[in-house]
Amino acid sequence: MATGATDGARDLHAAIEQRLEELARRPSDPRIAFLSHLLETLDFEGFRRLQARHLEDPKTGREAKFLDLVYWTDAKYKLVTAFGLHRSEPRRIVDIGAGNGLFAAICRFYGHEVLCTDTGTMPLYVDLCAFFGLDCLVHRVEPFAPLGFRRGRFDLATAMMTTFNRRPQPWGVAEWDYFLADLADNELVEPGEIIVKMGLRYFSPELSQHFRGLGAEVQDKQGYVRFTGVAPQRFAAARPA
Ligand SMILES: C[S@@+](CC[C@H](N)C(=O)[O-])C[C@H]1O[C@@H](n2cnc3c(N)ncnc32)[C@H](O)[C@@H]1O
Repeated sequence: MATGATDGARDLHAAIEQRLEELARRPSDPRIAFLSHLLETLDFEGFRRLQARHLEDPKTGREAKFLDLVYWTDAKYKLVTAFGLHRSEPRRIVDIGAGNGLFAAICRFYGHEVLCTDTGTMPLYVDLCAFFGLDCLVHRVEPFAPLGFRRGRFDLATAMMTTFNRRPQPWGVAEWDYFLADLADNELVEPGEIIVKMGLRYFSPELSQHFRGLGAEVQDKQGYVRFTGVAPQRFAAARPA
């Protein structure tokens, strides 16, 4: 069982081997195949250099926890399996605010094509996404501004542990409505899907009720919101004039 992210300093190869040993008692656990794949394919020397560089860099700060790829594999598998992405047909996914790219790397392992978007301001995230060889787009989400990815339409848009919804002030119904409407109208195929997981501090009962009213499946305790069968104009009524 994962107990919490470390300070990011542990040896990745040893950490993967240890988790695989622990998982040996649960042979059907889907993480086994992914972690074994990492063991076979990752450039561990390259990771050690990346890790040392970022642990020395004061800019890394608390984000060093994102170097603990085993911990984040556990955390992201909860989402991947909760939403059936480990056994769905291959899809085009845009992961908005992709961070260290691990969620995207797991999705890609299952045959999905994933575009990672992030602000490009955190060198640790940029380097980790490059380390995984992910397709990345430097992009900043702004309230009431079209996303404009210009990378074709996606089957699924994900935004996990979002922080773009905290600035310049916590997003309310109007900001979310604009964001959802823009995704549905301009970025997703029909029918598309949107999955958001946000910090509970930013997930008010009002927001939760509003998302339900728009037809989302909402899990308040986890901060998950999922819209399926999304079509253009789906959120038109909610969009500000
Ligand atoms: C808490 S991290 C979550 C990363 C990843 N989604 C995950 O679940 O591990 C939040 C991410 O959102 C990104 N972010 C913050 N503000 C953003 C914005 N305005 N537009 C796009 N991404 C943003 C950060 O750079 C960071 O990668």
